[in-house]
Amino acid sequence: MSEEPRIAVVTGASRGIGKSIAIALAEAGYSVACVATSLGRAKVTSDEIVASGGVAAPFGCNVGDAAAVESLAKAVEAELGVATVLINNAGITRDTLILRMKDSDWDDVINVNLKGSFLTIRAFVKGMMKARFGRIVNLASVIGQHGASGQANYAASKAGLEGLTKTVAKEFGSRGITCNAIAPGFIETDMTAELGDEMKENVRKTAPIPRLGLPEDIAGAVLFFVSAQAGYVTGQTLTIDGGLML
Ligand code: NAI
Repeated sequence: MSEEPRIAVVTGASRGIGKSIAIALAEAGYSVACVATSLGRAKVTSDEIVASGGVAAPFGCNVGDAAAVESLAKAVEAELGVATVLINNAGITRDTLILRMKDSDWDDVINVNLKGSFLTIRAFVKGMMKARFGRIVNLASVIGQHGASGQANYAASKAGLEGLTKTVAKEFGSRGITCNAIAPGFIETDMTAELGDEMKENVRKTAPIPRLGLPEDIAGAVLFFVSAQAGYVTGQTLTIDGGLML
């Protein structure tokens, strides 16, 4: 792996799991393109990486916008070089029961979580094909595997990501490109901050590992999937939930 260009793109890198992944990749020696909807918020993470001696650059991009993603790929190549690692972490929720769900709640979530990952893969895989090496990791969710009341849009987007992951694995495996998914359980971030204390307590009581997950628990698995040692692992989903869903 050390002979390969070590440039990684992380979407949704401004906070939470994405920020932790960006920092972990930088600490492992990657130059990291930190992508967030706003350039300013992406810069907070990239500045933090640079301040600790790493290499990073910030990029503002709505991953649901095809033209913006194509421009992003060009900008990353111009600024850092050809990326051979892509972490599709950007995600949103618009939770409500199906009977109350607006078309826009459905469209927004599918557009960012599912289409956004398709768009970034299509844009960045070309460079990986030329390099004959690539590592793609998509952030799915246990909700995509089990469903959850009030999360039809989110569950469908995350289940779709697992199908996308398997298809990318099949289409690009012969080019040295792997694609895997991580399905986190309950991880402490801004996304889950609004969920009630009762639900968090319930997770602590029922999971075999009696705590909520941390963003670092996910970043560790990303480091494995992007490594040279994981070159024979593709099309898989790794659930990281402290055993909650067992
Ligand atoms: P978060 O809400 O804390 O951060 C989401 C990130 O995505 C932010 O940086 C935000 O700027 C970025 N983002 C949102 N829309 C975007 C867009 N259109 N274009 C570019 N960037 C955009 O979320 P968190 O908790 O860190 O989750 C990260 C990923 O992990 C998401 O895909 C989420 O669905 C998934 N996940 C999280 C779980 C949790 O318990 N926190 C559980 C299962 C999956």
